[in-house]
Amino acid sequence: MPVTISIPRESTFPGSDWTALSRHWHPVAFCHELCAAPIGVRLLDVRVVVWRTPDGVRAAPDLCQHRGASLSQGRVSGRDIVCPYHGYAFDPSGRCTHIPSQPDALVPRKLCLNLFGCREQGGIVWVCLDPESTETPPEFPEAVDPAFQVVPVTPVIEWQASAGRQVESFCDVAHFAFVHPQTFAVKDPVVPRYEVRPGDRGLVAEFESHVGNVGDAGAERFRWRRVYHLHLPFTARLVVHFPGGGRLVILNAASPVSARLTRLFAVVARDFDHDKPVSDIVAFQHRVYGEDRAIVEGQHPEELPVDLHDEVHLRADRTSVEYRRLLARIGLGRHFTS
Ligand code: FES
Ligand SMILES: [Fe+2]
Repeated sequence: MPVTISIPRESTFPGSDWTALSRHWHPVAFCHELCAAPIGVRLLDVRVVVWRTPDGVRAAPDLCQHRGASLSQGRVSGRDIVCPYHGYAFDPSGRCTHIPSQPDALVPRKLCLNLFGCREQGGIVWVCLDPESTETPPEFPEAVDPAFQVVPVTPVIEWQASAGRQVESFCDVAHFAFVHPQTFAVKDPVVPRYEVRPGDRGLVAEFESHVGNVGDAGAERFRWRRVYHLHLPFTARLVVHFPGGGRLVILNAASPVSARLTRLFAVVARDFDHDKPVSDIVAFQHRVYGEDRAIVEGQHPEELPVDLHDEVHLRADRTSVEYRRLLARIGLGRHFTS
């Protein structure tokens, strides 16, 4: 039964920001992680249980209405999730189907699960805390395109940083020469003019660069087209068009655990080199993210300042300027810096 959830008492977000973010879909797990057992996650400071039923994935507050036990410590039995404390069972619609201590009891109205929105898309489980929301989870078309090999970047890494700072760093094109000289950047730090235009649910930024893997002979001579598709609030999909025609796609889906803690769900897809080991691509992606994380975890304030007066912007920062404007438009406050 859908019931609007209120802001958790331990929320690290300002109230209006929490409400705005609760209307959107956020990643909480990779689909392959969600097997027979329920799992407990934290999203926007809310404890959430996620589980798999024959009718699809489900999410609810990780709290049984009987005595507050954590349902994520329970189990799935047939169609039902079963509470670990007194064994009450709940079906995929959230209805209580069994009270073992009193099987004939009339089930009190309040004894049910207030389900959140929960969907699988692109190999990721997405949750939306607002059951009235009309938003949809971000698209990842390459995940269902047979031309692409799709590789989740596991294990999932936690960043001691806000999701906004993480996503902005993923879309920042002016840091390559400074942060990634050991992995993929060439030495020239100059950012050519690039375009940012409105996207379906955010923005699209197109950037031509001669970024290449270090050691690629003559990488400077090539042009690599990088197209960022940003889906508000915290997911970006980068399509890198290689000089030879191949495409490498990185889905960067940041989960706002709290205002200052982010779990990063990243997936890489490529339409070439299918015979090469996927472990190499995962290790490489972890190295690159490790370089970013060292910077982002040191940024202050930890939250992304949505007010454009708070930091300094140059032409090379067009994507982040537009990103901050859009975050303001979806309702994040001028002082998204709790
Ligand atoms: S606390 Fe869940 S059944 Fe009692
Ligand atoms: Fe980076």
